Amino acid sequence: MTPRARPLVFGNWKMHMTASEAEAHVRSLLPRLASLSDRDVALAPPYTALWAVAALLRGSAVRLAAQDLFWEDEGPYTGEISGVMLQECGVTYVLVAHSERRRLLEETDRAAGLKVRAALRSGLRPILCVGEDEAERAAGRAASVVRSQLALALEGTARAEASRLQIAYEPVWAIGTGHAATAAQASEMHLLVRRELRVLFGDAASEVRILYGGSVTPQNVDELMATQGVDGVLVGGASLKVEEFARIAAFRALP
Ligand code: PGA
Repeated sequence: MTPRARPLVFGNWKMHMTASEAEAHVRSLLPRLASLSDRDVALAPPYTALWAVAALLRGSAVRLAAQDLFWEDEGPYTGEISGVMLQECGVTYVLVAHSERRRLLEETDRAAGLKVRAALRSGLRPILCVGEDEAERAAGRAASVVRSQLALALEGTARAEASRLQIAYEPVWAIGTGHAATAAQASEMHLLVRRELRVLFGDAASEVRILYGGSVTPQNVDELMATQGVDGVLVGGASLKVEEFARIAAFRALP
């Protein structure tokens, strides 16, 4: 059995917090994360708060993340932000194709692929989000949907780059609903993701961390993190509350 990957706890703030709110939040959160040395923690504020949060995180082990990027490095793309720009802000991780962007902004698997490659090219660590919706699960299509999202978005990503990639399995029906996947559902899907990664990347697949996202709370994080195949969590709503996120980040280290 391969040794367990270093866990990653990721806070996705979505479109919440102005720069000054973000500063106050991070000032109160950081001391509560200081003793966590056996896991990675990252925060993804909105673009407008990146500089402010970067300044506060300097010197700490907590990493800065972004919620999206564009697939070109610069040019006539009004409103877009490139990986190069994020890199200069001190960003380490970047989410790609979160389900809210797939659903509300019609982001495609092809765009996801371009963004994964742009992130890697810019020296960032992409977190590709995949997951089925309620109707797809009800129709027994969860596995085929996720397999196809992975294959389409990761086509063209080299094996040598796999160690910088993360996948977030986020069933759409669990996001913001208070109904997290059960340990059995998460385990089944994470093992499926791992198998698909092996097809794409061979042995290098073992270096890819697979996070679970969707209604992660202080109450369910210990069980989720003890679930086979779960290397971390992607936290939305609960990442906006200092005490809740601190407790999630401090999930009990399990065998
Ligand atoms: P949630 O969101 O924790 O509020 O369900 C997770 C996500 O969208 O990444």
